[in-house]
Amino acid sequence: MAALVHFDAQGRWSRTLSGEAAVGVALRGLGLSFGRWPRRELGDGSLDAVLAAYGPELDALKAQLSIRSVDRVSVKPGNPDWPALRQRFLGEHTHADAEIRYFLGGSGLFYIRVADGHLALLCEAGDWIIVPAGVRHFFDAGERPDFDALRLFSIPQGW
Ligand SMILES: [Fe+2]
Repeated sequence: MAALVHFDAQGRWSRTLSGEAAVGVALRGLGLSFGRWPRRELGDGSLDAVLAAYGPELDALKAQLSIRSVDRVSVKPGNPDWPALRQRFLGEHTHADAEIRYFLGGSGLFYIRVADGHLALLCEAGDWIIVPAGVRHFFDAGERPDFDALRLFSIPQGW
């Protein structure tokens, strides 16, 4: 289930929202988008098969955003590259384009900087998030990472 936790500027827990609808409304108010796509069979598991499986959803996205690139990041517990990758992901940053993630499997936490602290958004299999250009954020998946996500970068159109 979707969960969104707000921490104040001192890092103290402030409030928690749960459920796709409540989380979606809260994030929309901040200019982000969040929702769920149905889980699909992924054929041979290749990126092409994933893109084919999610063709309808991706077409709808492409009607709103110009998708510049798509890749897939999958990290399982014990991955020797995770410590270095984690350090990169933990750095707060922004993008010139919108950042779109769709979680095919596993879970991870997106941290989003807001005026009065930061938000932690739990993303699980089936969840997608759009972080607009310029919004400060970082990502973590803990000591034992287990996630499989599509990463799409776009050029904003009419935002
Ligand atoms: Fe990012």
